[in-house]
Amino acid sequence: MRIHVVSIFPEMFRAIADYGVTGRAISQRLVSLKLWDPRDFATDRHRSVDDRPYGGGPGMVMMAPPLAAAIEAARKEESGRVRVVYMSPQGDRLDHLAVQRFAGMESVILLAGRYEGVDERLLARHVDEECSIGDYVLSGGELAVMVWIDAVTRQLPGTLGNAESADQDSFAGGLLDCGHYTRPDVYAGIPVPEVLRSGDHGAIRRWRLKQALGRTWRKHPELLEKIELNDEQLELLAEYQREHELEKGR
Ligand code: ADE
Repeated sequence: MRIHVVSIFPEMFRAIADYGVTGRAISQRLVSLKLWDPRDFATDRHRSVDDRPYGGGPGMVMMAPPLAAAIEAARKEESGRVRVVYMSPQGDRLDHLAVQRFAGMESVILLAGRYEGVDERLLARHVDEECSIGDYVLSGGELAVMVWIDAVTRQLPGTLGNAESADQDSFAGGLLDCGHYTRPDVYAGIPVPEVLRSGDHGAIRRWRLKQALGRTWRKHPELLEKIELNDEQLELLAEYQREHELEKGR
């Protein structure tokens, strides 16, 4: 996947380019990340990218021409159609389904805004969709772009050490993830669940599935309404619910 990012703070992206799963995906060339600084496309002596809003009011607005020039320069490096995504709290929510849809794209241009916003005409002419990471306002789109890149990259084949890990993430089957344990065997008086030390892979798989179902039911029951459970899953969830009720009654 080829990712182009338009941002006035290209240095911030070292956080994902130099570390972890995203850093490895880039160095293994599973993902390319190219940064485009609108300041390099400004036409005045001060390399301006923002100006005061028409109609008055606080803050500054990002000007259309330098952003458009940066987007067009990125677009020129791509042969086919490439989607331009503007990160904004007004966009469609970036959930697991959206992440999977984006992961199917060959290339993308991500636009990070700053200041009070971006000139509306830039959005109308150059942006295909707006994408939000949640109902709160960040000081700039850079962190949102990085969240997008991290979440999408881990869905691409070959980016995770263990090929199965993305399938086992929370949300992958529409369920939350089960709990995880490592040494020591007993911590703060709490032992690791016996079944995980049994070596019985069938029993471990069922236990994990039951925990995933039970946690989803307890923490995000609305997720269960979006999926159809098979017979085994219904049985395991009922078992979990019975145990949970017993626990509550104690
Ligand atoms: N830019 C500022 N806030 C944002 C948010 N919540 N999601 C995406 N981009 C943003």
